[in-house]
Amino acid sequence: MRPQRVERTVDKMVIEGGHRLEGEVSVSGAKNAALPLLAASLLTGEELRLENVPELGDVRTMVHLLRRMGARAESPQPHTFSLQAQELTATEAPYELVKTMRASVLVLGPLVGRFGRARVSLPGGCSIGSRPITLPPVGLAKMGAEIELRHGYVEARCKRLKGAWIFLETPSVTGIENLMMAASLAEGETVLENAAREPEVCDLADLLVSMGARIEGAGSERIRIEGVKELKGGSHRIIPDRIEAGTLMVAAGITRGDVLIREAKAEHMQVMMEKLVEAGMDIRLEAKGIRASMEDRPRPVNVKTLPYPGFPTDMQAQIMALVSLARGRSIISETVFENRFMHVNELNRMGAQIQVEGNTALVVGTSELSGAPVMATDLRASASLVLAGLAAKGSTCISRIYHLDRGYEAMERKLASLGAVIQRVRE
Ligand code: EPZ
Repeated sequence: MRPQRVERTVDKMVIEGGHRLEGEVSVSGAKNAALPLLAASLLTGEELRLENVPELGDVRTMVHLLRRMGARAESPQPHTFSLQAQELTATEAPYELVKTMRASVLVLGPLVGRFGRARVSLPGGCSIGSRPITLPPVGLAKMGAEIELRHGYVEARCKRLKGAWIFLETPSVTGIENLMMAASLAEGETVLENAAREPEVCDLADLLVSMGARIEGAGSERIRIEGVKELKGGSHRIIPDRIEAGTLMVAAGITRGDVLIREAKAEHMQVMMEKLVEAGMDIRLEAKGIRASMEDRPRPVNVKTLPYPGFPTDMQAQIMALVSLARGRSIISETVFENRFMHVNELNRMGAQIQVEGNTALVVGTSELSGAPVMATDLRASASLVLAGLAAKGSTCISRIYHLDRGYEAMERKLASLGAVIQRVRE
């Protein structure tokens, strides 16, 4: 059978700015919860059913990886997946997949935990920073795995992992998720110190506990896991995507609109919402969701990105687009990744006045942005260009929009339903 030629469509997004967003919109399931939860299906031979799975690029990549290893992964209806990793034909995540999605590394912990072996490519560089994969292998070695780095791959072997006390130098989100999954099937107790506290880590812990894992402390800096011999299958509804919700709030604010965002969980977004209120937005919790609106130009705010519960690095590019139109100067410090200002040059092409010094950006607010041809460079940078395009005078054409499609489900449909004049153009 001829190999299927994978069509790599190079879509563009064309936006005519100046339209106020109004109405109601629903948030999809969280991308950064879906990815570890999909990987968790490797921990059991029974069926795992996931609901509220967002339909976006990174989920398709993870599903493709699971299928390549021989797992069953079917979607009987939209946003639902039935997964079963009874027998695997491979326990490997190849370079050509990992290089497109660093989060493929999330299969490492489950594979070693359940099958005693894994061969996972190191991702290499990433556009927003070096993002080394040091923590999971270091943690697994402490749990007794033999780790070798060969030909760009991490090779891990272990008859059965043993619980250990592990301190994580950086509160890595996928690092802690990998180790939590591995520890669930280890012999004895594992303590993970300096753990990431993201809601997506808690969602994974909730699923694992429902599968029979013994986990305490998820959401705090200290997670304790008592390993068990086997995990059962189960079913789980994925939490809503707090970054998509925040992006939609900024879309309401930057167009001086009034939007009700359904499904969003306010308790996952406290600091983010406080910052948007400080920037002049009106954000109210209502019965059906969170209402975000703005009547005037934004006020300048200073933002420092931090691990959860601090202001999320995944919202840095979006709030930068908002304060590009503020009455005054804002200072934005990116403390999580070392190169997450790729959107600055493109925003400046649209008339923003942003200067970068190291990991800090000075944004001198301007009264108007102008539409222009711009290029997406990474997922959240592309979101910030969409936001700027919604407010800019004239038309904005964003190329390489596949970056946006990695992390947002049907963004243009959602924005158009709120009154945006936006369309996807196939080249
Ligand atoms: C997760 O990435 C998210 N991805 C990222 O979202 C998010 O930006 C990031 O956490 C921080 O919140 C998923 O959950 C799938 P990290 P992750 O490991 O786990 C360093 C998006 O836009 N580090 O927390 O890969 C690393 O270099 C994406 O949705 C090590 O040094 O990020 C970085 O500076 C982008 N060694 C810092 O920790 C390691 O082994 C945080 O990275 C791992 C990480």
